[in-house]
This record gives sequence, structure tokens and C-alpha cells, in this order.
Amino acid sequence: MSVHPQLWRRCLRSPTTKVIAVIVVVLIIFHNLPLRDFGFFSREKIIRISTIPDPPKHPIDQLIYKQRTRYQELLKRQSKSPKEAITNYKLRYKRDPPPGFADWVRYALQQNSTIIDDFDTIEKVLHPFRQLEPGHLESRIESARRTGSRLQTVSINNGTSLLAGLPILESLKDVLPSLPDMTFLLNELDEPRVIGSQPDKDDISFHDYGRRPSWTKLTASCQKTDNGELEGQQKHPYFLESITNSLDLCRNPGYEDQYGMFTSPCTFVGTEGLVPVFSVARVSTMRDVLVPGHDYHNEGFLNKDDVDFRNFTSKENKLYWRGSNTGTYASSQMKWETNHRARFMLKVRNNTDLFDVGMTAYIQCDWNVCQAMEKALGLPPRADKNASFKYKFVMDMDGNGYSGRFYRLLQSNSVVFKQTLVEQWHDERVIPWVHYVPVTVGLDEIEDLVKFFLTEGTRQAEEIAAESTSWVQAALRPIDMTIYEYRLLLEYAALFKKTS
Ligand SMILES: *[C@@H]1O[C@H](CO)[C@@H](O)[C@H](O)[C@H]1NC(C)=O
Ligand SMILES: *[C@@H]1O[C@H](CO)[C@@H](O)[C@H](O)[C@H]1NC(C)=O
Ligand SMILES: *[C@@H]1O[C@H](CO)[C@@H](O)[C@H](O)[C@H]1NC(C)=O
Ligand SMILES: *[C@@H]1O[C@H](CO)[C@@H](O)[C@H](O)[C@H]1NC(C)=O
Ligand SMILES: *[C@@H]1O[C@H](CO)[C@@H](O)[C@H](O)[C@H]1NC(C)=O
Repeated sequence: MSVHPQLWRRCLRSPTTKVIAVIVVVLIIFHNLPLRDFGFFSREKIIRISTIPDPPKHPIDQLIYKQRTRYQELLKRQSKSPKEAITNYKLRYKRDPPPGFADWVRYALQQNSTIIDDFDTIEKVLHPFRQLEPGHLESRIESARRTGSRLQTVSINNGTSLLAGLPILESLKDVLPSLPDMTFLLNELDEPRVIGSQPDKDDISFHDYGRRPSWTKLTASCQKTDNGELEGQQKHPYFLESITNSLDLCRNPGYEDQYGMFTSPCTFVGTEGLVPVFSVARVSTMRDVLVPGHDYHNEGFLNKDDVDFRNFTSKENKLYWRGSNTGTYASSQMKWETNHRARFMLKVRNNTDLFDVGMTAYIQCDWNVCQAMEKALGLPPRADKNASFKYKFVMDMDGNGYSGRFYRLLQSNSVVFKQTLVEQWHDERVIPWVHYVPVTVGLDEIEDLVKFFLTEGTRQAEEIAAESTSWVQAALRPIDMTIYEYRLLLEYAALFKKTS
């Protein structure tokens, strides 16, 4: 087995803060770009439903129309005051908001948060922990921090934290004094940690499930029929309609040999017990608590050259992708073709009329497997990050975890085609068919998608590119991550104060 040590590190995303880089990016975005008004704007004006034929005839137009309508409703219904937000919270969740909520609303409004009420992701990820008594929660966290590796224990006491340099604490530094005392566990790996299939277990231990198939373990909690097949699976429409369905492992048995994390994850150190661990991404059956990935705004992914003002019409009529084969550890014991990035390459690389794709590095693989992949898929030179700006369409796929280039691609005035199986903090606010074109894991429809947006859908493509570019500045800013974290931590701290 010969893994290049430097490349092996790619399995682990470095937790080191690039605080200065983030500040620089923010300064550049908000002060140095005279070409564009990055101030807050009335969102209702941005999106144009009117260019979709009414009633929409093509199935893709129907999907765009449906999602744009949903998007406009989302933007319109947000509360305008703490009082209104508290009323909406009670209606939605049938309980009082956590202590400090009114201050949170004031802060979010002051920071021009486009979203005030729609934080169901927080509700979903904390739900399993609402059943646990505070004492059990505390002892499980203590047990996990004793036995788990690559977990950071973060304590906030009297409005400060002794740890320095963690992105989440940098992000929260202005609001720390408003947060109650608490302790949480932060996952340092790209891959999620909490399988949660033994929710009653109080001793938390982590096991190494890396480099071998994980599907059976990850779908153990799904409902099964008498002969052991997943229940509730459904035949999916050709074009992807609902992200909720596509992300749901239980409904998609076909994923078993189509995605790196299921066939041979690079690293996977998980626990069967149920304990809150903060992670940046997870698959649907896991119980990690989702926090924003700060890599999105780091220097390596988003910098001043990464804002593109090229006229969409003048860009090349192709879908572009460059990247490495991350997603699996490709050993001799597995079929490397099951890696999602490799499958994408195999599917589209010969169709050079519509696609310009290339695998530019082979890492996380046994030597002979690296060789086999390179022989089958080729090895073009690495490309500039901004090379994608030349193209109308750009592909974005998960690696070992989420793809850190997503926000850069969204704001590049090209149309992002996205294939993903991981849930993230932003799932309620980045809307398929409005901000990007969702692609199935099977990839059957990908050629027809490109063809549609090159012919009858050119107008819609230009609008998606423009909308996603401005949405990054409106709803995916570093401050939007702070606002999410602030609210999450109020809810999280309240779990430990239950009176029953
Ligand atoms: C919020 O929007 C208002 C009105 O456009 C603007 O004056 C203010 O500077 C914005 N505040 C922040 C923090 O972006
Ligand atoms: C908490 O912080 C405040 C000021 O930030 C300080 O005055 C107070 O003494 C601190 N309390 C404790 C218990 O450390
Ligand atoms: C973009 O380029 C096309 C064709 O060159 C031109 O018709 C259109 O007006 C340009 N749009 C903008 C916004 O400059
Ligand atoms: C793609 O082209 C290569 C050679 O250029 C060929 O070996 C391979 O069979 C082709 N694949 C498909 C799916 O047509
Ligand atoms: C990418 O950025 C580099 C350096 O900033 C620049 O020289 C190059 O022209 C850019 N390429 C494209 C396609 O924009």
C-alpha cells in the first residue's frame, strides 16, 4: 500500500483557522468591488418568474416554476420583528422559543438576514436529543470526549471561550456574551460521526469503519420489509424533483454502489450511540448536529479572483469540471468505478460536444489502483480555479464530504450543476432549480439537462446564474453562518435546562 503522505492528508480537512483570509475576503467583497451593488436589496425584485411560459410545458420549466414560486413565498413570509418571530416560532414548534431568542431576532434583523423563521434544519438535527434527559446528555458528552479522537471540546463560560482560533468561535465572537454557558463537541473530520443506531447506550465509543463498505451500517435504522429490503423506496422521476427524497438513503437502495462514502470511505470514525457532535455535513440517516462549513469562505476556496463578471451569453456552451478522485479510499479490494467522481468521468468524458471534464490528480488510492484509474480516465494538467468561469455550466460534486467550492461556483455567474448526498446547514435556503440545477446520483439525465439549457432553456440558465451569484451575497455570507450558529446554540443550550 503506498499512499503519498501529503495526499493522504486530503482525507482530513484542516481545522486551522484562516481568520485573516476570511476578513480579507469579506473586505474585498463588501468594499473593493465597485462593479456591483452588494448592499441589501429587496429580494422580491430579483427573481423573474415571468420568463417561464405559463403554463410551463417542458418538465424542467415546470420544476423551475414550482421552485421559484416556493422561493418567493419563502422570502415574503419572513418575520419583520421579534414579536412576530416569537408568534411564528410558537405556531411552528408548539413551544416557547429558547431564552435569548428575542435578542437573536434583533441581531438577525440588524444584520439583514433574509431568513428569520425558516430554520427547520436546526429543529431536525436537535430533535433526537430532545428525548434525552439533561443528565444523560451531559454524561454522554463526557464519555465521548474521553474516548473519541479528532473531537474538539468547546466550552463557553460567562460569554467567553478559552479556545482560540476555531472558525466557529471566530464566527461567534461578537455574540459570545449573549450565549448561555455550554459545552459542545466539534468534529474535526470531513465525514460525519454519529450513526446513532443504539440510542439507549450511555457509553459512547468510536470505531474505525474506514476503507470498507458502510452501506449496511448506514441504513440499519431504515424501515425494512420482511425479506430485508428497504421499505418506502420509490421510483424517481427522470429529473430530480425533491432534495428531501434524493438525500434520503432509506428511499434509495441504488446508492449502495454509487457513492464513495458507501463503498470505501477514506476515513470514517463513528459511534453507534447517540451523542450530539457538531459536524459540517452528514448523510440522512446520521445524527450529527449540522453547523456551517467555514471552508466555504476560506482563501483556498473563495478569493478576490473568484468573482466573475463575464457576460453569461459569451461563455462557452459546455459543462466544466476538474478535480481529483476523492470520496473513497480506492484500494485493490474495491471497484474504483463506484466512486461518484469516477462514475461521472466515465459517463460524460467522451461527449466532448457538451462536456469539458478532467480528473487532474489520483490520490487516496493503492498504487496499482491509481495507475488503473489514470489509464482509464486520463490525467490532464491541473487547471486554474477560475478556468471554470469561461463556461456556462459548472459541475459540483461531493468529495470525502461536502464540496468547499460550491459558493465560489454559485457566485461565478455560471450555472452550477450539483450532485450531492450530504445534508448541510444551508439546505433550506439554497433552492434547487432556482440557485442551481440538481443532478441525480445515477446521472442518467445529465446530458438532457445540458441540452435543455443550451436550447429552449437559455433564458432560464442566464437567470439561474444571475440569481445564484447575488444570493451568495444575500444569504450565504459569513454573517449568515454566525446567525445560524447563534440560534443553534441557544436551542442547544436549552436542551440542558429541561424542567420535567
Ligand atoms: C442592512 O440594510 C440596510 C438598508 O439597505 C443598510 O443601510 C445597512 O447597512 C445593512 N446592514 C448590514 C449590517 O448589512
Ligand atoms: C463574567 O464576566 C463579567 C464581565 O464580562 C465579569 O464582570 C464577571 O465577574 C464574570 N463573572 C464570573 C463569575 O467570572
Ligand atoms: C451579452 O452579450 C450578448 C451577445 O454578445 C449581448 O446581446 C447582450 O446584450 C450582452 N448582455 C449584457 C448584459 O451585456
Ligand atoms: C470513451 O473513449 C475511450 C477512448 O477514447 C474508449 O476506450 C471508451 O470505450 C469510450 N467510452 C465510452 C463510454 O464510449
Ligand atoms: C484567472 O486568474 C488569473 C490570475 O488572476 C488570470 O491571469 C487569468 O486570466 C484568469 N483566467 C480566466 C479564465 O479568467
